[in-house]
Amino acid sequence: MKNKVEVSAPGKLMLFGEHAVVYGKPCIVTAVDQRVRVRAEIHGGKQLTIDAPDVGVTRYVQDMNKLGEGEIPKGARFILAAIKKFAQSWEIPTGLKIETKSDFSAEFGFGSSSAVTVGVVKALASLFEVDIPKERLFELSYGSVLDIQGVGSGFDLAAAIWGGTLYFVGGGKEIVPLKIKHIPLVVGYTGIKADTATMVKRVSRLHDKNKEVVDSIWKTMTLIVMRARTALETGDDKTVGELMNINQGLLDAIGVNTPELFDLIGAARSAGAYGAKLSGAGGGDCMIAWTDEKNPSDVVNAIKKAGGSVLNVNCNAGGVELK
Ligand code: MEV
Repeated sequence: MKNKVEVSAPGKLMLFGEHAVVYGKPCIVTAVDQRVRVRAEIHGGKQLTIDAPDVGVTRYVQDMNKLGEGEIPKGARFILAAIKKFAQSWEIPTGLKIETKSDFSAEFGFGSSSAVTVGVVKALASLFEVDIPKERLFELSYGSVLDIQGVGSGFDLAAAIWGGTLYFVGGGKEIVPLKIKHIPLVVGYTGIKADTATMVKRVSRLHDKNKEVVDSIWKTMTLIVMRARTALETGDDKTVGELMNINQGLLDAIGVNTPELFDLIGAARSAGAYGAKLSGAGGGDCMIAWTDEKNPSDVVNAIKKAGGSVLNVNCNAGGVELK
């Protein structure tokens, strides 16, 4: 047993296939160089202390044998779920101190809850010297997230674990690291925080009511992901952009676009981006534009002029790692 460890896990951006992936279809996701850092320390006694100031948690204290009982602050829920999940497979013989810190705001939709969940499981495995392969880390992290959220495909957990850019099939049925030549993305933030579970449930109601219609959208999204995979691997920017635009049209069709996303996407396209779409659950959060690598500044300025803020992120970042 070690005394303390520190790990970091990346956030993510969805490139293609959001929502369809919840229905077992494929998507393409890239890890970003904005990370969540988790520090886990052995603590004498039998208490757990959590400090996660970025999500409003300061000195949450609970008995290790009463994990999950009583009032749990929102920001501590994923951390607790990850500890509980780990403790179901391996005994935690001591008290613990967990601290988390994020490079990015939880508002952006970069997947801070998933990165923190992966970070906590990985940190505990390292602290108690358990050898945990990526697939098992995914299984435990996915179980923790489903315990809290009830819905989700797990793509964000895979990005946090494997890093890079992944072809991912809903639930983790296939996780394939892709070799991408370059990712000339500009990321625009609408300033509006969306709630993923709410958006997923809204789409689920639409699907229940119009099953065949929405299933045919998932089929088309699957074709888009397949073609996008090839276009990304061969560096065919024009096709990547076109496919982003088609994907965006279908996301609009299932009701997850917003006027703010529409404005930023339109501005990016008018300024010469190859294509643009929302990224993630929709309802707010971020949009992405595929640009000419040599001169993205027109697109950057257009997004700002349309009311968005441009986030400085690099894609294809490394997966969870010990410091
Ligand atoms: C949210 O970032 C992406 C969704 O597809 C949900 C999920 O895959 O868990 C909407």
